[in-house]
Amino acid sequence: MDLHRKYDFKNHHFAGEEGRLIPLLQQAQAMDGYITRDRIHEIHKNSGIPLTHIYGVATFYSQFRFKPVGKYMIRVCHGTACHVSGAKDITEACQDHLAIPSGETTADRLFTLETVACLGCCSLAPVIMINNDTFGNLSPKDVKKIINRYKKEGPKEAAQ
Ligand code: FES
Repeated sequence: MDLHRKYDFKNHHFAGEEGRLIPLLQQAQAMDGYITRDRIHEIHKNSGIPLTHIYGVATFYSQFRFKPVGKYMIRVCHGTACHVSGAKDITEACQDHLAIPSGETTADRLFTLETVACLGCCSLAPVIMINNDTFGNLSPKDVKKIINRYKKEGPKEAAQ
C-alpha cells in the first residue's frame, strides 16, 4: 500500500479513494463501536473500493478499532505533561481497579482502557477522559472513585 498519501489541504481530506473511505469507516465505527468484517464488506460492495485497500486504510489509522469496546472508554493520557505528572501511576490504578491491562475491555463490557497521546488539556495533568468527560489533576485514588461512580450512577451523575 502506498503510505505517501496526498492530503487535500484546501478541502481538508485525503484525495481520491481514501478521502471517501475514511468517513465511511468512521461512520461504520460510530454505528457499531468498532469496524466489523460485515461493514468492510458492505463498504466494498457499495463503493467498489477493493477489500485489500479498505483493510489497508482501516489498519493504518489508530483511530479504527477491530474489537468491541466497553460502554465507557477510559483514555489515560500519556503525553509529556501527563507523563511527568504521574500518568504511569494513573494507568496502573485503572488496570488494578478494573483487573484488565491497557487495551482491553472488562468482561462485563462496561469499561475499555487505553493509553493515548495528549488529550489537549495539559494544564490539568495528569488527565483521563471517560467517553466525553474529562478529569484532571488526578491521583490514583481519585481514579478509583471516578470509575466507581460510573459503575453505580452512569455518565451524567458520575461526571459532576
Ligand atoms: S499531555 Fe496529557 S493532556 Fe496534554
